[in-house]
Parts: sequence; structure tokens; C-alpha cells
Amino acid sequence: MQNYPYIITISSEKGGVGKTTLATNLAIYLKAMREDLPVTILSFDNHFTVDHMFEIKGQKPRGTVHELLMGTKATELVHVGQYGVGYIPSSTELGDIHDRFKGPMTLARMLAESGISGIVIIDTRPDLNILTQNALYAADRVLIPVKDMPSLENCKNIFALFDQRGIDKKSLALLPCLVDERIKFDGVFKDQKTLLRAFASNRGYRCMDSFISKSPKVESLNTNPDGKIYPILTHARGTEVHSQFTEITRDILRTFDNTPESRSCLYAQWLSEREGKKKESYLARLEGLAERCLICGVPLLERPDERGFYYETSDRAMRGFLHNDCFADMLCGTLYGLYNDSQAHGAARTVIAEKAGKSVSLFIPRDSENSYVLDFKQFNHAGELAFQKEVAMTGFAEGEFDGVHDRLYLFLNESLAGYEGKLREGSWLAVHPVDPQNPERVLHEERYRAVQQLQARIGETLKTA
Ligand SMILES: Nc1ncnc2c1ncn2[C@@H]1O[C@H](COP(=O)(O)OP(=O)(O)OP(=O)(O)O)[C@@H](O)[C@H]1O
Ligand SMILES: [Mg+2]
Ligand SMILES: [Zn+2]
Repeated sequence: MQNYPYIITISSEKGGVGKTTLATNLAIYLKAMREDLPVTILSFDNHFTVDHMFEIKGQKPRGTVHELLMGTKATELVHVGQYGVGYIPSSTELGDIHDRFKGPMTLARMLAESGISGIVIIDTRPDLNILTQNALYAADRVLIPVKDMPSLENCKNIFALFDQRGIDKKSLALLPCLVDERIKFDGVFKDQKTLLRAFASNRGYRCMDSFISKSPKVESLNTNPDGKIYPILTHARGTEVHSQFTEITRDILRTFDNTPESRSCLYAQWLSEREGKKKESYLARLEGLAERCLICGVPLLERPDERGFYYETSDRAMRGFLHNDCFADMLCGTLYGLYNDSQAHGAARTVIAEKAGKSVSLFIPRDSENSYVLDFKQFNHAGELAFQKEVAMTGFAEGEFDGVHDRLYLFLNESLAGYEGKLREGSWLAVHPVDPQNPERVLHEERYRAVQQLQARIGETLKTA
């Protein structure tokens, strides 16, 4: 069975509020309080605290958060470190990643597909860049340390991000940190944490019941002659902060236990449903294809690798593939009156085929006083007109074939025929080049949507022309 992680993101735009201390120690407490629970930590910051705390000397590095964000599967990057906590080494090179992370759900997807189980803790930088946003949206729980009014003010940007995207804010909770218990006030708000809580609830922010005190002992844990960073659990047992961490960890475990399906699990389900739907519509699109090449009439299955073009009528009543050669020959005849056995044909065809291979070709027949005229237009992939020619369709209305345009007439009749020998009013035909190695790809979700969009855009320019 596939595993999905439960994700906890620690975030605040304000620096120095205790994010990294919370993230790293929470990982250790979780592991200590539930030995069999896999706990993994990673940081988007570049100060390597995570590495200093969890690295086991002599362990072979297997890539960093940078590789994770570039698409390497997370399970390949997780190192089992000190205290049994898994960690992905930090990186100083996340600056160039931002371009790749255009979407806000990229990390959610990576983690949903990572196969990691248990709890993943993400420590973020003191800003709301695209990586932090990704970490926020991926999380089952977001802990936002606040230590004073400025850090509380900053919270509004996180809440606003969730509002902007219409995401439920119930994952967000503030945690008063670095609370100095020596500071007492007169009146209702008797101390720092009560004051912060009151301001938070006044703004509609949820606050955790716990808080973390400021402790000189805790502060000293990363300043010592060995250059190590010691955990609160082992080196500050006697402090308030130790019992506060125990309480916070219990709270986290409680909600973890009460979450049957984590966000990454739900996200993976949604992704696979969407894949399923895509597949269904792809199959439906395959179903509706004409079986023969409309120009030569030969079943396409006979020479499947000669399919070079895909056509669709503007009303989508007829769709299918055409042989590469058939289409190029037809264009030669239609546009230049050249057919197979004429001398200039070979050279002209190469040029014409090349052009058709780079454009969308449109066939727009017009009924002008009982004799048809063809507007032939080619558009580039940006939807701009690249070529056009008007072709008189002599004899078409009378059903006469003139030897030069036979293939075109056949093609138009087969695809656009309406009632009483006439073509369907206002309908036209678009022909798109496809990759002969894999013509069906044009019908895959993303490609097909692009085809539709291009046709819609061209349709608009036709209306205004
Ligand atoms: N409970 C505490 N008591 C006293 N000092 C603390 C406590 N928690 C953290 N600190 C100290 O506060 C400083 C900032 O902590 P930390 O690095 O965890 O904050 P941060 O929010 O991650 O900072 P940054 O935004 O720079 O990443 C550190 O020197 C840390 O040792
Ligand atoms: Mg930090
Ligand atoms: Zn053919």
C-alpha cells in the first residue's frame, strides 16, 4: 500500500521567533514519544541547523533539499539521522528553484507521491516566498510562532494567502514562543502570552493552548565549545520548555491520530481521480475518430505510421488522421494546381509539407451564388495568420471533378457535407500536424486542450475578419 505523510509546516515571516528550534526539537520529541512513528525533517533555510543536529558523522550524503525540489523522489533523499529522525540535508542553492516552483501545489504533489510515511516537518525561511507558500498549502498543520506584536502583525499575510486561494484556514495555529514569564502586566492581560492570545483571537486567529517560554538554558544549547546543537529533550530536561514541548507534541500526536486521511493522501486521491477522468476523455476522443484517411480512403490501421496530420471540423462532427503524403499532395493540387506526375511537384511538395508541418491549416469553404470558393489560411502556433490563398472550387457545386482538385473535393465532402449536396453552413476544417511516431498524443489532455484553445482563438479572428 502507498504511504502518505502527515505534514507539519513551521512558518513565520518574522525571523528569530524560534521556528527552527521548534521544528528540530518537535521532531525529536515526536520520535521519543512514539518510537515506531517515522519522522522526517527538512528545511528551506540555508543555515544548516537541521544538518548540525541530525547528521551522523561519516554518513554518505545522498543529495539535498535542492534535489528534492528538482524532482528526485523524497525516499531516496531521506537520511536516517541522530535520535532516529530522518532528515533531508539542507542546501544553499534554493535561489534558482523559484522559477520551477510556479505553482503553489508542486511540493504537495511531490510529497503526496513521495511514498514517505509518518510525519514530515518542514522548517521554512522567514519569508513567504513560493517555497514557503508550497509548504503552507501542503501542510496538515501550520504552526506559526509569534513572540511579540510585530510577529503577530505579520501573521495576517499567511492568513491572507489562504483567503486568496480559498483554502480552509483550520490548519493554521499560532504558538506564543520565547515568552518571558518574568514580564507581568497589571489588569486583564497579566502576562505576554495572555496578551498575545487576546490580540490573536481578536483578529480571528486560532492559537494553540500551549506556549514556549524563553529560557537561557535553551538559548545556550547551540552555543558550546563543540559547535554542536543539543536537543532540549536531552540537555534541558529540567526546564519549563521541556514540559511545554511534551505538551505540544501530545497535542500534535492527538490530531495526527485523529486524521484518518492526511492532506497528501487526499491530494493523491484527487490526482488519481483526475488522471482517471483524463484517461476516460482520452479514450472517448479516440473512439470518435474516422477509421479511414479521408483523402485516399484507405483504412488508417493498414499504414499506421504514415499518419502525419490530425483534422477536426469546427463543429467537431468529423475528426481523424490523414496520411502525411495524402495531405501534402492534396495541398499541392489545391494551392498550385500541381499533381503527382507534374515535374515541379516533388520540389514544391517538400516546401508545402514543411510549412504544413509547422502550422494549422484551415479550409473555409464559402458558398457564393451557388459556386464555392475556398479560403485557405495557415496560422502559426501562436494563432497568427501566416499564409492565405483563395481557391476557386470550379465544378464543386455541380459535383464535377476536375482532376486537379479531386482530393480536396473529396476531403471537404467527406468532412463537411450537409444537406442536399451542400456543405454545412459556416463550418470549416482545421488540420494540425502530429508526430508520426505517436499521433494519438494530440488527443492527450494537455495537448488536446492546446489544440482546442488554438482553434477557438483562430475562430475568433475569423469572426472579426
Ligand atoms: N525557548 C527559547 N528560549 C530562549 N531562546 C530560544 C528559545 N527558542 C529559540 N531560542 C533562540 O532564539 C534564537 C532564534 O531561534 P530560531 O533560530 O529557532 O528562530 P527562527 O525563527 O528559526 O529564526 P530564523 O527566522 O532566522 O530562521 C536562537 O538563538 C535560539 O537559540
Ligand atoms: Mg530558522
Ligand atoms: Zn491517405
